[in-house]
Amino acid sequence: MSGVTGTTGTSGTTGTTGTTGTTGATGTTGTSGTGVAVGTSGEVLLSVQGLNAFYGRAQILFDVALEVRRGEVVALMGRNGAGKSTTIKSIMGLVERRQGQVRFMGDDISRERSHRIARRGLGYVPEDRRIFTDLTVTENLEIGRQPPRTGAPEWSPRRLFELFPNLAEMPHRLGSRMSGGEQQMLTVASTLMGNPTLVMLDEPSEGVAPLIVEQMARMIAGLKRDGLAVLLSEQNIHFAALVSDRAYVLEKGQIRYSGTMRELQANAEVRSAYLEV
Ligand SMILES: Nc1ncnc2c1ncn2[C@@H]1O[C@H](COP(=O)(O)OP(=O)(O)OP(=O)(O)O)[C@@H](O)[C@H]1O
Ligand SMILES: [Mg+2]
Repeated sequence: MSGVTGTTGTSGTTGTTGTTGTTGATGTTGTSGTGVAVGTSGEVLLSVQGLNAFYGRAQILFDVALEVRRGEVVALMGRNGAGKSTTIKSIMGLVERRQGQVRFMGDDISRERSHRIARRGLGYVPEDRRIFTDLTVTENLEIGRQPPRTGAPEWSPRRLFELFPNLAEMPHRLGSRMSGGEQQMLTVASTLMGNPTLVMLDEPSEGVAPLIVEQMARMIAGLKRDGLAVLLSEQNIHFAALVSDRAYVLEKGQIRYSGTMRELQANAEVRSAYLEV
């Protein structure tokens, strides 16, 4: 099922769904977009079909289709400007004009406001860190708190401090006194306080120190172990490969490739066409 997908559009549903992670079990969802079909590798939590997005008059996304199943870590890859952030923002309802279908846990959320989408348990960590710099680590965590959710791991500051040992060392530090990497970690931790079922991380490794990148990878592996699904936007295949089961590759707002992470790593042609700089 992997390979370079053809131009999207009317012919275009090929290749963007179906392959699953290491289990190799093919789900039953296909292209129908019902979003609730249960395959052996887990229920489809997020399903995107025919997504177009626009900034003003410029069309940025063209017929993007992807899905994320329960327990999967899926990488959304592509070079600068490929449309990774726009895809995630469109899913989250943060792009002014978008078309297409976005389903989360079986419900159509294509027309929903972003705060309602978040309340459904779709967590979002934007590219630019968003913490309250005049609040402490613990206070920032409390702001993210939402009620527990059936079928999603439940987080508390204590549990998060196990996942983020460096934050555990500074519970009373003000956001403004933290490094960029620490702020990035806190943004993720605060999002987890909302007990999401699926979390979208927009380039968590970008611009942070190697040590933090390593912790970030360990953290994502930990989330997966806890049963959380992750959609990760990433340019760096080395980082993505550490944590992801599957990958989609974007170029110029179109999905050019989808397959398992292992297949992508083995596919030098796709990597050089769409990823390497
Ligand atoms: N607010 C905006 N207004 C107009 N064009 C935008 C806006 N934001 C992004 N774009 C354009 O949309 C395209 C996709 O951008 P996007 O930020 O989604 O890419 P990306 O894959 O996330 O890149 P990066 O790796 O640099 O974060 C780019 O051509 C970009 O210039
Ligand atoms: Mg981006």
